[in-house]
Amino acid sequence: MKIISAPDYQSMSRKAANIISAQVILFPHSVLGLATGSTPLGVYSQLAEWYKKGDIDFSKVHTVNLDEYCGLAPDHEQSYRYYMNTNFFQHVNIPLENTNVPNGLAKDIEAECKRYDHVINSLGGIDLQLLGIGHTGHIGFNEPDSDFDKTTHSVRLTQKTIDANSRFFEKPEDVPHYAITMGIKAIMQAKKILLIANGESKADILYRSLFGPITPEVPASILQLHNDLTVVADEAALKMI
Ligand code: GLP
Repeated sequence: MKIISAPDYQSMSRKAANIISAQVILFPHSVLGLATGSTPLGVYSQLAEWYKKGDIDFSKVHTVNLDEYCGLAPDHEQSYRYYMNTNFFQHVNIPLENTNVPNGLAKDIEAECKRYDHVINSLGGIDLQLLGIGHTGHIGFNEPDSDFDKTTHSVRLTQKTIDANSRFFEKPEDVPHYAITMGIKAIMQAKKILLIANGESKADILYRSLFGPITPEVPASILQLHNDLTVVADEAALKMI
């Protein structure tokens, strides 16, 4: 595991964006696993800025996102499809048909999970997976206690996650209670993993994930077993390390 410390959020974002841009420049056909949440916003805007300057070409890249809320339409402002379109895809030259986010409106959730696994497999797996981390140690929406070896599946979100994500919704009761998430298995099969974290509120869970026991109660702890994990975090998030 490689840990890169950054003085602040902006620097964390730039260092992480550097790793992604190196991947895309060296391997233009890369499959990028992408994440949502507030942490990667700076990474996406940095990549968009470099794209505008002509430094990166995303035209051959494919992307698979980690997760989506059940019940939210792609044009719902809080859906992860909307987030990806407005924060990243619309600002670079990636063809929209190369981008994948689980369908939160799927009637048959099980079939949608199978379809999503098929998408990941038919792309040949993920070359570089970007991850944030939730306060419960979740990656994607793999909440504590879920099996380590799951493929794409639907999850009931923990109250802690619902509370944390309610800041994005008008009313707390608007936060969906279920989501579809890529499983730990596909995440761990990614060739490279880039975990980003910022702020003091992530310090404890980051420490437990990277140096605590490997247990499904802290889903991110499985990352200790990945052979190409890079963590880029600001000093506040690294304060216990
Ligand atoms: C959500 C996402 C995760 C993300 C987490 C942390 O629950 N499903 O992929 O890592 O939030 O979010 P934030 O970056 O806003 O702290």
